[in-house]
Amino acid sequence: MIRFQYRNLLSNPYLNPAIPASRLVNFADKVVSARQQIESDRKSGILGFYDLPEQDISPIIDFVHSLDDSFADMVVLGIGGSALGNKALYHALKTEQGLKKRIFVYDNVDPVQLFEILDAIKLENTIFNVITKSGTTAETMAGYMILVDILKKKFPQDYHRRLVITTDREKGFLRQVVKDQNYASFVVPDNVGGRFSVLSDVGLLSSAFAGIDIKALLSGAAQMREQSEQSDIMQNPPYLNGLLHFLYMREGKNISVMMPYSHSLYDFADWYRQLWAESLGKRYDLRGREIYVGQTPVKALGTTDQHSQIQLYTEGPNDKVITFLSVEHFQHDYVIPNIHPDREEVSYLGGKKLSELLNAERLATEIALCKAGRPNANLIFPELNAQNLGAAIMMYEMQTVFTGKLLQINPLDQPGVEAGKIATYALMGKNGYQKELAEIKNYIDNHT
Ligand code: PA5
Repeated sequence: MIRFQYRNLLSNPYLNPAIPASRLVNFADKVVSARQQIESDRKSGILGFYDLPEQDISPIIDFVHSLDDSFADMVVLGIGGSALGNKALYHALKTEQGLKKRIFVYDNVDPVQLFEILDAIKLENTIFNVITKSGTTAETMAGYMILVDILKKKFPQDYHRRLVITTDREKGFLRQVVKDQNYASFVVPDNVGGRFSVLSDVGLLSSAFAGIDIKALLSGAAQMREQSEQSDIMQNPPYLNGLLHFLYMREGKNISVMMPYSHSLYDFADWYRQLWAESLGKRYDLRGREIYVGQTPVKALGTTDQHSQIQLYTEGPNDKVITFLSVEHFQHDYVIPNIHPDREEVSYLGGKKLSELLNAERLATEIALCKAGRPNANLIFPELNAQNLGAAIMMYEMQTVFTGKLLQINPLDQPGVEAGKIATYALMGKNGYQKELAEIKNYIDNHT
């Protein structure tokens, strides 16, 4: 099970000044109230992600078993919450768990990216999973239309069996397409928001296809949810980390850096970036007051970014909380051979494992940050497996909602994304957006 090491988020002999443990007591009432609000939201059914560990996964397993063995690759078409979790899981586990099938995620409207994916796969050996909760997202729909056209031309007889759609159970254009065209389909639950949906059909289908143990994924999530029931907040990683981030935000630390010391976990940091940014970056609080709150998530990679970012994190503005992700045991590792035993410049490395150097460098960075008074934490993965990934996902999802409650904002909406969507519709000539198009044209004409 993953372990959350928070020693450098609280004052200690290395890290002074920082938040003293004694201060947490002052927020006990706030914590209790946030937890009660979460309980009541769960009862009213709006926090569906908490209950995903208990879902029936047999339709996913049966579907994957029913697929023709010739399908070696899956291409996911989706964006944001309908893509980032799929990428995070696959890239975290593909090598360490020896996954045999490949997943590609097309989560942009970049023609070169689409070309590269189509170039890397064989169409006849690929199944496509279109994922969109709303069923209308422009980026995903553009990719869907291009792909259906390609598939229809190449496989006029059986293009249907090469596409599976994951969307709302009832609503939206794509659900209508599923009904009309009889495509295989899965569901994004109504009460699970996009960025909280990786443990639903959204992330489970591609994971199961790739060979990830989705039962273990959900059992890890359930284990973390159980830990969140601890009334002692010091034993409760998601809520403790949420509280500490909330307290640091009040002290002006408005940047949250996630820095995996594992290339495999780099996309996990990308998934976190969306979760933390879109959920907490809000203009209004629940009472409608303007508060402009949020913590900018940044991703960095250890050790690579020690040679690019750590100078800033150590000596630049003290406005960050840094979280390392570290892995204790790697399935794939190398011993550094001592090929220059007489040269002290490099001989100290000889005989050590690469993972030993990696983790020593992480600890060294931790110490350097502490000496510079920079708060940091470490989420430890004993190894990269589905159980641990499920736990980490659930931890951050619960932490995000809990922090939203402390901030008294709605962590489940994203009103700030709407303006851009409307302008895109207008620019692309969607019916009903003529007024917005005229406004944009007027703006451009007057601001050249
Ligand atoms: O978290 C969210 O709700 C968003 O990031 C969505 O996941 C993203 O906009 C994609 O939406 P959809 O699944 O409707 O295509």
